[in-house]
Amino acid sequence: MRYECIECGANFDIKERLYVCPRCKGLLEVEFDVEEIEEKLDRRRLKIQAPSVWKYRAFMPIHDDSKIVTLNEGGTPLYKCDSIAKEVGVRELYVKYEGANPTGSFKDRGMTVGVTKALEFGVKTVACASTGNTSASLAAYAAKAGLKCVVLLPSGKVALGKLAQAIMHGAQVISVMGNFDEALDIVCRVCEKRSDIYLLNSVNPFRPQGQKSIGFEIADQMGFKVPDRVVVPMGNCANIWAIYKGFKEFDAIEIAEGIPMMTGIQAIGAMPIVDAIKRGLDKFVPVKKPETIATAIRIGNPVNGPKAIRAIRESGGAAEAVTDEEIIVAQKMLARMEGIGVEAASASTVAGLKKLVAQGVVDADECVVCVATGHMLKDPEEVVRVSEVPTEAPAIYEEIVKLIG
Ligand code: F0G
Repeated sequence: MRYECIECGANFDIKERLYVCPRCKGLLEVEFDVEEIEEKLDRRRLKIQAPSVWKYRAFMPIHDDSKIVTLNEGGTPLYKCDSIAKEVGVRELYVKYEGANPTGSFKDRGMTVGVTKALEFGVKTVACASTGNTSASLAAYAAKAGLKCVVLLPSGKVALGKLAQAIMHGAQVISVMGNFDEALDIVCRVCEKRSDIYLLNSVNPFRPQGQKSIGFEIADQMGFKVPDRVVVPMGNCANIWAIYKGFKEFDAIEIAEGIPMMTGIQAIGAMPIVDAIKRGLDKFVPVKKPETIATAIRIGNPVNGPKAIRAIRESGGAAEAVTDEEIIVAQKMLARMEGIGVEAASASTVAGLKKLVAQGVVDADECVVCVATGHMLKDPEEVVRVSEVPTEAPAIYEEIVKLIG
C-alpha cells in the first residue's frame, strides 16, 4: 500500500501524513498491490456476508483494526426502479440509496475510514469545510471517536438538517462569510500550518477509500456483475472517482469484471467539470459564483476535479448539467413514483439521466445505477418550498370528508 500522485506518478510511504503530492502538489491516490489484497481477502465470505463498508476490509488502508471508528455505515439498499426506468426510457434502472447511512449521506463511508486514520495518526482534532453533509458526518464520527471537531460552513448556505446534525453532534461550527470554495481554501491552509489538526475534506486521500465501497456494493448487490453505467452528482468531485476506483479494484482482482461508464451530473449554475468534459479540456475553469438549489453541490472550484475528469474519460462515460427545475421534477419523481426521498443534489442524477437518454448519449438498452447521495430530510426547507401547501381545514368531520372527495 502506498500513496501515488495522479499527476507525476511519484510514490510515498503510506505511514506519512500527506494530503497532496509533496513534489508537484498533485492529488494523491492510495494504491494497493493485488497480492496485498489477495492475502487479506476471504472470497468465500465475500459471497455470503451482507454488504457494509467493513465487509471490504481487505481494500481499506487501515493498519490497526482496534482503532476502527464505525457507526455501521454502508449496506444501503439498491432499489430497482421500474416506473422511472419506463419514464426516462432505459431498460433497467436502480437507485443506490445512500440516504440510509447513519447520518443520512454517503459521507459516512469516507468518515469511518478518515476518522480511523485520524486515530492512527494520533491527532486530537479533526476539521473540514462543507456544504453540509461532510460536516454532519465528521461531527458524528468525531463524537464517536472522542475527537474535537471543527467545521467551516458557508454562512446562510447550509441546509437546516445538516446544520442541525453538526451542532447536535458537538462540532465547533464556524459560519464563514463566504462560499464553500473560500471556506475550503481557509481550512486547507489552517491544516497545513497546524499539524495538530487533521484535515478531513475529500482532498484527504483516505476518505475516498471508504467511499469506493459504493462501487463494491453495487457490484455485490447485482450478483458480482457491474451495470453499464453509474450516474453520480458531482460537487467537490471525490465521489465519482472513488466509485470508479472501487470498480477498478474489483475488476483488477477479478471479483466483478468490467467498469461502468461513469457519468457525472452538475447543476447548470455550478458546472465546471461538465463544461471541461464537453469542451474536451484537460483543465477545468472554476466558476466564481456557483448557484443552485442543490446546495450540496454548489461548488465552483472542485478540488478533485482532475480525478472526476479522468474517471469520466477513462471509463467512456459522460457529463451533463441540469437546471434547478429539472432537479425538482426528478426529486418528485423519485419520491412519488418510487417512494425514495432524496435531497436535491441526489435528484440531479435522474434529471441528468433523463436528459442524456433524450440526447441519445445513453442507450435505451442500458442497465443504469443512479447514486442517491443524501436523504430528503437533509433539506426540509427546500422540500416544503417546492411542494404543495397543505390544505387548512376546520376540525369538523363533514368538512374533512368533503375535502377528501
Ligand atoms: N451529493 C451530496 C448529498 C453531497 O453532500 C455531495 C457533497 C455530493 C453529492 C457531491 O460529492 O463532493 O464527492 O463530488 N457534499 C460535500 C459536503 C461537498 O461538504 O458535504 P463530491
